[in-house]
Amino acid sequence: MTTLVSAGHRLQLNEIPFGPPPSVRDALSRALASANRYPEFLPQRLPRLIAQRLGCGPERIVVGAGATGVIMHIVQEFGSGGAEVVMATPTFDGFPILTTMAGGRPVPVPLTGTGRQDLTALAAAVTERTRLVVVCSPHNPTGTLVPPAEFEAFLQDIPASITVVLDEAYVDFVAEADRADIFALLDKRPNLLVLRTFSKAYGLAALRVGYAIGDAELIDRVARWQLPFGMTALAEVAVRACYEAEAEIQARIAVLAEHRDRLTTGLRELGLCVPDSYANFSYLTLPAADAEVVATALAGADIHVKTYPTGIRITVGDRSATDAVLAAVRSTVQ
Ligand SMILES: Cc1ncc(COP(=O)(O)O)c(C=O)c1O
Repeated sequence: MTTLVSAGHRLQLNEIPFGPPPSVRDALSRALASANRYPEFLPQRLPRLIAQRLGCGPERIVVGAGATGVIMHIVQEFGSGGAEVVMATPTFDGFPILTTMAGGRPVPVPLTGTGRQDLTALAAAVTERTRLVVVCSPHNPTGTLVPPAEFEAFLQDIPASITVVLDEAYVDFVAEADRADIFALLDKRPNLLVLRTFSKAYGLAALRVGYAIGDAELIDRVARWQLPFGMTALAEVAVRACYEAEAEIQARIAVLAEHRDRLTTGLRELGLCVPDSYANFSYLTLPAADAEVVATALAGADIHVKTYPTGIRITVGDRSATDAVLAAVRSTVQ
C-alpha cells in the first residue's frame, strides 16, 4: 500500500519555489568532483566576480555565508560592547538576534500603520551610544519599499560616524526604475553599507552567499571578521553560473512578480489589508486575534507561513500555492 504524504506549501522563509536552472545544476555537479579541495583561504575570486558584475572595484565588496553571515560580521565590528543598533520592528529576525549575539543592544522602532519603516522615528532613536542603523528596502516582513529620495534625505539626518545598513536582500524583485542608485549614494555617504544576497531571486539559499557593498575602508573592517575557508567553493561556482544564466533568472523573477500580484489582489478581494509588496512575499495586516484564525486555517491546509503580532507573511510560491492560500484564507472570511 502506498501512503501519500503531502509536502505542503513551504511559504515561511521567502525562498523561491524553483531549484537552480539546469546549467547551474550542471556546473555544481561538475564542481562536486573537487570536493576534496579547500576553497580559497579568504575569498578573493567571488568578490572580484560580483564587483565586475556591479561595475565597481573588488575592494568595495565583502562576501559572507549569506547576508546573515555578512550581518554577523557587521555587528561584530560595529554593534558590540553594548552599542545600540537602531532597527524597525518587526524586521528580518537576524538583525536583533545577531546584534544580541555580538553584545550589542537592538533598539526597535515600530513600523507605521501601513507597514512602512518610520524613517523619522528611526533617526530620532539615534543616541550617542548608537553605532549602527538598519533600513530594509524592500522591508521584511511587509514588502514595502523605501522611496530612494526619502532614504537619501534620511541619510542626511544620520551622523557620519554611525554606520547605516541598507538591506536590499529582495532588490532583484524591484523594477529597475524603483531602485535606489546605490553607487551615487555610496559616493556621497561613505558610512553606508548595502547588503545583498543570492538566497532570494537567485535561488541559492542552501549555498549561503551574500555580500555587502561599501566604501573600501568600511568593507575592510567588516572583512577582518571573515572565517578562514568559510565560503564554500560551490558558492563561487553557482554565482558564476547564475550570472551566465541571467536571462533565465530574470524570466523566473517575472513569473514570481505575476504570482505575487495575483496573491496580493486575491487577498485584497477577500477584504484584507495587504501593503504593495516589492518582494517575493505578501503581508496580511491583521490584529493578533484574526491573524491567529487565519494562521490556523493555513496550517490546517498544510501551508506554512510566518506570523507576527501585526499580521502574517506569506511567501509567493507557484500557482498551486497561491490557489491553496486563497482557498484557506477565504474559508476564514466567509
Ligand atoms: C531582509 C533580509 N535580509 C537578509 C536575509 C538573510 O538572507 P541570507 O542569509 O539567506 O542571505 C533575509 C532572509 O530572509 C532577509 O529577509
